[in-house]
Amino acid sequence: MALVTVKTLLDAAEKGGYGVGAFNCNNMEIVQAIVEAAEKEKSPVIIQASQGAIKYAGLDYVVALCNAAAKNASIPIALHLDHGTDMEQVIQCITGGFTSVMYDGSAKPFEENVAMTKKVVEIARAARVSTEAELGKLGGIEDHINVSERDAMMTDPQEAKLFVEQTGVDSLAVAIGTAHGPYKLPPKLDFARLEKIRGLVSVPIVLHGSSGVPADDLRTAISLGVRKINIDTNIREAFCNTLRDEMAKQPGEIDPRKLLKPARQAMVEVIREKIQIFGSNGKA
Ligand code: G3H
Ligand code: 13P
Ligand code: ZN
Repeated sequence: MALVTVKTLLDAAEKGGYGVGAFNCNNMEIVQAIVEAAEKEKSPVIIQASQGAIKYAGLDYVVALCNAAAKNASIPIALHLDHGTDMEQVIQCITGGFTSVMYDGSAKPFEENVAMTKKVVEIARAARVSTEAELGKLGGIEDHINVSERDAMMTDPQEAKLFVEQTGVDSLAVAIGTAHGPYKLPPKLDFARLEKIRGLVSVPIVLHGSSGVPADDLRTAISLGVRKINIDTNIREAFCNTLRDEMAKQPGEIDPRKLLKPARQAMVEVIREKIQIFGSNGKA
């Protein structure tokens, strides 16, 4: 099977009322773990690569790994650029084999974010590549941020409506209280805000910073229209913690495969659990 677009997967998720996991990859073992987990759960899946992942592994390697995965898979797989901020690189991904791109202009003023996102949507659409954009700023967990500052960072529902209408983007990442990386305390999600956004915005909603969000909160978010759920940190933890344990257990081992195999298996288990929470199991 060839790679499919994220839009194809999110349209089906919208109809079915479930969420699709978007799992970050940085190397072959992570790609294999994502695909093995999705195969075992009979679930559609999104593999995504950040700018950092592309810098580390190389764009051609990322695309080749995902094409190899899709070729033999019995489930639909999409390849998505995560947090693209560089227009040149976004275009490289569009022409280089990605089936979906995120343009992240969330740090820019509203008008500039609209203008840049619109440009990306035009180019991507011509190449049959789907799009995601972001409005609002993630990362409201820092201790020094007070309630009104935290509120100001979150996505404004009216702005979200305008943004989607003006850009024609296929999906929208929103800030409703999640943050990237490990949480010190479980995050408090602003479900009332999500509900308002959902009432005004017609495209599927994307939740970033989803590692460490309690399962029930993820289910609630999905019931309120979140369709793409981004997970990176929990995969990194499974990989690195297991690798560290294996190296301690096998101090003389010099065959990387003996150390990496359990690490890969630990990632499969974490990803399977997430897929079950998102309700995309059995939906491939
Ligand atoms: O949203 C951020 C992702 O976890 C990617 O992180 O830029 O370190 O690859 P990264
Ligand atoms: P976490 O690392 O917090 O899971 O966030 C992932 C993410 O949002 C990737 O875009
Ligand atoms: Zn993110």
